[in-house]
Amino acid sequence: MESKISMVLSLTVLLIIIAHCGVQADHTSPSCKRKLPCGPSKFLFYLHNTVYDKSVDNRQYFNSIYGLPPNISFPNPFGFGIMNIFEDPLTVGPSNTSKSLGKAQGFYVLDSFKEYTLFHIFTANITEGDFKGTVDIFGQVREADAVRYLTVVGGTGAFLGARGLASSTRIEIDHTPPAKWTLSFDLDLYY
Ligand SMILES: *[C@@H]1O[C@H](CO)[C@@H](O)[C@H](O)[C@H]1NC(C)=O
Ligand SMILES: *[C@@H]1O[C@H](CO)[C@@H](O)[C@H](O)[C@H]1NC(C)=O
Ligand SMILES: *[C@@H]1O[C@H](CO)[C@@H](O)[C@H](O)[C@H]1NC(C)=O
Repeated sequence: MESKISMVLSLTVLLIIIAHCGVQADHTSPSCKRKLPCGPSKFLFYLHNTVYDKSVDNRQYFNSIYGLPPNISFPNPFGFGIMNIFEDPLTVGPSNTSKSLGKAQGFYVLDSFKEYTLFHIFTANITEGDFKGTVDIFGQVREADAVRYLTVVGGTGAFLGARGLASSTRIEIDHTPPAKWTLSFDLDLYY
């Protein structure tokens, strides 16, 4: 008698478990079957940044502006805590007169006390060429490194759902005010 009851009980538990899993599977399967279209697996662009400098010319043509420095009284040689917001032109080739691809909008924050590191977060809005859409890029640009590895954390349009690696190198830098530099971004993308 007791074993019969326990058998019925375990059967009931088993049925509940099966029913529960069935409901869960039914609930999740439609979205699990969805696939992203594949965008480009490689994409390359060059970013041109010119930092606003009042001593040169107090006009609006600069594409990158520093925020207020932190209010501290100790020395801060690497500008720790300073933010720069930019809207930089992107081109197909390394020259600033090369064919336009769109623009990058975002910011970087100087985030080291000991060296120049520029933590970047920006959206590359690609409006010209074969692939149109946005790519969101995130990561550290450490000035001392020859190649800086950032990540692609998402995208829209032709780059919908993209993830991957953004390998960046400094093509040139000119420290004479207004400071300007060009970075390449070589993207390896996965969907
Ligand atoms: C900076 O901080 C000091 C006191 O710590 C204050 O007196 C001063 O007004 C602050 N300056 C700015 C620009 O906020
Ligand atoms: C391109 O770079 C050169 C050399 O730095 C500079 O003189 C020129 O103004 C730049 N042109 C544009 C469109 O930014
Ligand atoms: C990208 O640029 C185009 C053209 O200016 C604009 O229509 C679009 O909304 C921009 N996308 C984003 C995410 O800013």
